[in-house]
Amino acid sequence: MKLLVTGGAGFIGSNFILYWLSKYPQDKIVNFDKLTYAGNLENLKSVEKNPNYEFVQGDICNHELTNQLTNSVDIIIHFAAESHVDRSIMDPAPFIKTNIEGTYVLLEAALKNKVRFHHVSTDEVFGALELNSKEKFNDTTPYNPHSPYSASKASSDHLVRSYFDTYDLPITISNCSNNFGSYQFPEKLIPLAITNIVEGKKIPVYGDGLYVRDWLYVDDHCRAIDLIIQKGQIGKTYLVGGLTEDISNIEIIKKILKIMDKNENLIEYVKDRPGHDRRYAIDWSTINKELGWKPEHNFDDYLKMTIDWYVKNQDWWKRIKTGEYQKYYEKQYK
Ligand SMILES: NC(=O)c1ccc[n+]([C@@H]2O[C@H](COP(=O)([O-])OP(=O)(O)OC[C@H]3O[C@@H](n4cnc5c(N)ncnc54)[C@H](O)[C@@H]3O)[C@@H](O)[C@H]2O)c1
Repeated sequence: MKLLVTGGAGFIGSNFILYWLSKYPQDKIVNFDKLTYAGNLENLKSVEKNPNYEFVQGDICNHELTNQLTNSVDIIIHFAAESHVDRSIMDPAPFIKTNIEGTYVLLEAALKNKVRFHHVSTDEVFGALELNSKEKFNDTTPYNPHSPYSASKASSDHLVRSYFDTYDLPITISNCSNNFGSYQFPEKLIPLAITNIVEGKKIPVYGDGLYVRDWLYVDDHCRAIDLIIQKGQIGKTYLVGGLTEDISNIEIIKKILKIMDKNENLIEYVKDRPGHDRRYAIDWSTINKELGWKPEHNFDDYLKMTIDWYVKNQDWWKRIKTGEYQKYYEKQYK
């Protein structure tokens, strides 16, 4: 099989490429990525000389290039996106462009070249749940996005579904919860906390810190996408989540501090994000029943593994914090 992976230099995309090439070494992967601030080819150092791996720098909004790359593949796995909510609040324009227009350009290329399409999306399209309720997002939850990021992802989901309904394009969609694990850009909660602790800096926590997310370990996510690609029902959307029972951001920070043997006085409460969703929780029973997927370990074990990874790979994230990582492409590929 030959896969076109968009956004493969980002956090989840690069984990997915490493996962796929180690599980299916005979398959070919083209990594199509614009290399925005979030793209880091250093994540893929271990496969860059693999003859079954190719990197192409480019924008998914470029019709010609997208069409050309789609021409020779069996499936598109679409990760490329602007993905950070805070950045979407400051400037929604790139979110509209990449997440909506870029998805449309890819869908057109998939249609023209008769290529299967898997779209990676988020639970944020469903809006927010009440704190302390037992409710979870499920297969029938209506869309109700609150940030420019989630609104742009919701729009892309609708477009993908419409290409199935209107043109019979073979698509699948996964809406997953917050991911964590290795190679996550250190602007996101868990890697920001760990790396700041290592550097002896304060850990910023929004508002009262009582925001609840449903944490999904990135390898579990990659396995879920694998199963959907191999056995998922065409036209269907699968919800993918973790094993956390309503754990708040502040509890996570306290767990990290405890594991790293540091004092809670490193916590610094900062002004809240506007429109901040209180709680997300995912009912992933459909993918469990249909495809046999479930997370492999519990949250605490994954959190320890993640802390361990960031402590051992300080070179990787320090090169991000200094901006050095952005020179890697020029040295290796130009
Ligand atoms: N990280 C999470 O917790 C999470 C949760 C749910 C869903 N998702 C979704 O999963 C996907 C991947 O998320 P991530 O956290 O790995 O994101 P990321 O920000 O780490 O990576 C995004 C990648 O897309 C690339 N990109 C951006 N614009 C592009 C364009 N116009 N053309 C080509 N490439 C472009 C970037 O260079 C980067 O490598 C996204 O679609 C996101 O919405 C992420």
